[in-house]
Amino acid sequence: MKKILSRPVTILTLALVFLFNSFAFAQQIPTDEAAIKAGEALFNGNCKSCHRVKQKLVGPALAGVEDRAPSVQWILDWVRNPARVIASGDAYANKIYNEYNKSQMTAFTSYTDEQILSILAYIKAEANKVDAPPPGTTTADTTGGGGGVPSGYLNAILIGLVVILVLLLIILGLIINALKKYLDQKDLSEDDKEIVHSKYTFNTAIKSPAFIFIVVFLVASVTFKNVIDGLYSIGIQQNYQPKQPIAFSHKIHAGQYEIECRYCHTGALKGKQANIPSANICMNCHSQIREGTNTGTTEISKIYAAIGYDPATGSYTGKQKPIEWVRIHNLPDLAYFNHAQHNNVGGIECQTCHGPIEEMDVVKQYSLLTMGWCIDCHRKTDVNTKGNAYYDKLLELHNSKKALKVEDIGGLECAKCHY
Ligand code: HEC
Ligand code: HEC
Ligand code: HEC
Ligand code: HEC
Ligand code: HEC
Ligand code: HEC
Repeated sequence: MKKILSRPVTILTLALVFLFNSFAFAQQIPTDEAAIKAGEALFNGNCKSCHRVKQKLVGPALAGVEDRAPSVQWILDWVRNPARVIASGDAYANKIYNEYNKSQMTAFTSYTDEQILSILAYIKAEANKVDAPPPGTTTADTTGGGGGVPSGYLNAILIGLVVILVLLLIILGLIINALKKYLDQKDLSEDDKEIVHSKYTFNTAIKSPAFIFIVVFLVASVTFKNVIDGLYSIGIQQNYQPKQPIAFSHKIHAGQYEIECRYCHTGALKGKQANIPSANICMNCHSQIREGTNTGTTEISKIYAAIGYDPATGSYTGKQKPIEWVRIHNLPDLAYFNHAQHNNVGGIECQTCHGPIEEMDVVKQYSLLTMGWCIDCHRKTDVNTKGNAYYDKLLELHNSKKALKVEDIGGLECAKCHY
């Protein structure tokens, strides 16, 4: 009896388990806001360096992946261990692997189903979004740009003076007319009449002391202004935009592909220098991306030459020749500037000082970088004290309703900026 029953029972149990699995535990992509948020954070932190939702990067655009991949379970297995899925001979896995030049996706072994599903939730939400117009640049900048203070003042003074001179001329003309009319009514001798009605010729005009004075004055002021402008701009390199050895474009990388600044400028939040990335960082992507839309292979192959990489064989030759980037921003040695202090502690955006870098094909120096520029911002800018325990005591001691400016914590002390 037992024996006879055992087989169907096992089969039944198995079938039930199978059904239970595929219905009750069928992997559902969540749609709630919390999951999408969690997924966004995971995606940005771990996937974004290779994937975008709607754009191909190192890996495929992930929009619609849940429909294209064999199953949601497949995606879970893939993300946790792509190499194993490929090695298992899975046809879909091998197809995309070959399509992407056999580049290995990182394995996220420790990810739970829930985490991966939240990433898919984010991707789905993002894919369904209608493309919003590109956000305007948020560079409310008052400290950069402009031709410097003295130039502004002098221009205003010059224009003011010219306006006054013209007004004076008009008034003088009116007075002369009035006088002529008045004198005409009087009985004048012939001699006097001649003087009153004497033709004011061009010759007499340019020889008149008034005219000579005006000309000398104008020439002198323009020269003076140019000399002062020249003196003030010694050592100022605003708008300096040298040609770089590789046509690297921030507009493509930081703008179009939204690669974060600190992915390449690794020191910007941690140290004094923001750092220029080494060719290794370029290779994270360019070992795969071998052709640019605008420049074909010529510019990207310069990266390979620099790092000694042979794209034909995919191997390193050992012959390196560092890329000689031309430095753009450069303070004199006497001044000390620290990126971490401003970006990390101060919470200032890169763009406040460097301008809309993500729109520049070729970087240029956006701000003046003079002492006046530094001081001006230190006078105007509030210290970012939020969530910074270091400042709690200071705020308590300061104990005023007024926001703490950089100036108040010693931002104008010579020794803070000068060695
Ligand atoms: C180092 C780069 C890299 C990272 C990081 C990365 N991927 Fe991938 N991914 C790839 C590549 C390349 C492929 C294409 C297949 C291949 O070559 O292995 C791929 C393929 C995929 C696929 C299959 C796409 C399709 O069209 O079927 C999914 C799903 C996927 N990745 C999800 C993720 C998720 C989720 C993360 C973050 C947790 C992630 N990937 C992080 C490089 C990466
Ligand atoms: C993919 C890597 C990459 C990303 C992402 C990137 N940069 Fe750069 N950046 C470079 C390279 C390479 C240079 C040197 C060549 C040049 O000047 O174009 C550079 C140069 C600069 C310079 C000029 C440095 C000098 O010589 O004075 C500034 C400023 C700068 N980047 C700011 C930014 C900001 C701000 C962002 C984010 C919006 C950003 N970068 C994103 C790679 C990158
Ligand atoms: C996170 C990925 C990533 C990194 C890191 C990266 N790039 Fe790129 N790069 C891209 C993408 C994507 C493109 C666009 C390819 C295209 O035009 O289709 C690109 C294009 C280019 C192009 C060709 C532009 C054109 O349109 O012809 C050059 C040159 C280039 N990168 C240089 C560099 C250099 C130098 C570095 C290192 C400082 C670097 N890239 C780092 C992703 C990256
Ligand atoms: C408060 C203004 C300010 C902010 C904010 C700022 N920078 Fe700078 N940056 C400078 C100055 C000044 C220099 C020149 C430093 C020098 O010569 O010592 C510079 C130089 C650089 C350089 C040239 C190389 C180096 O490390 O000196 C790079 C790259 C750079 N900045 C990137 C960035 C990035 C990326 C951010 C945002 C994360 C950023 N900067 C934010 C003012 C700023
Ligand atoms: C866009 C505004 C801005 C500009 C421009 C700027 N700074 Fe600052 N700076 C700040 C802020 C905000 C802080 C306060 C950061 C903090 O909370 O410690 C700061 C702090 C400092 C400190 C530390 C002061 C202290 O008492 O601890 C130094 C040094 C400094 N800046 C140097 C410079 C130099 C040099 C320049 C010009 C090359 C410059 N800064 C340009 C905003 C600016
Ligand atoms: C917020 C930072 C900051 C503070 C505070 C500061 N300086 Fe400067 N100073 C600079 C920078 C940056 C330069 C270089 C600017 C340039 O090359 O145009 C500079 C340049 C100078 C120069 C010109 C040197 C030369 O060769 O042209 C002198 C002199 C000077 N500072 C003196 C002082 C004195 C004195 C104080 C205190 C009253 C002071 N600085 C406070 C940032 C600062």
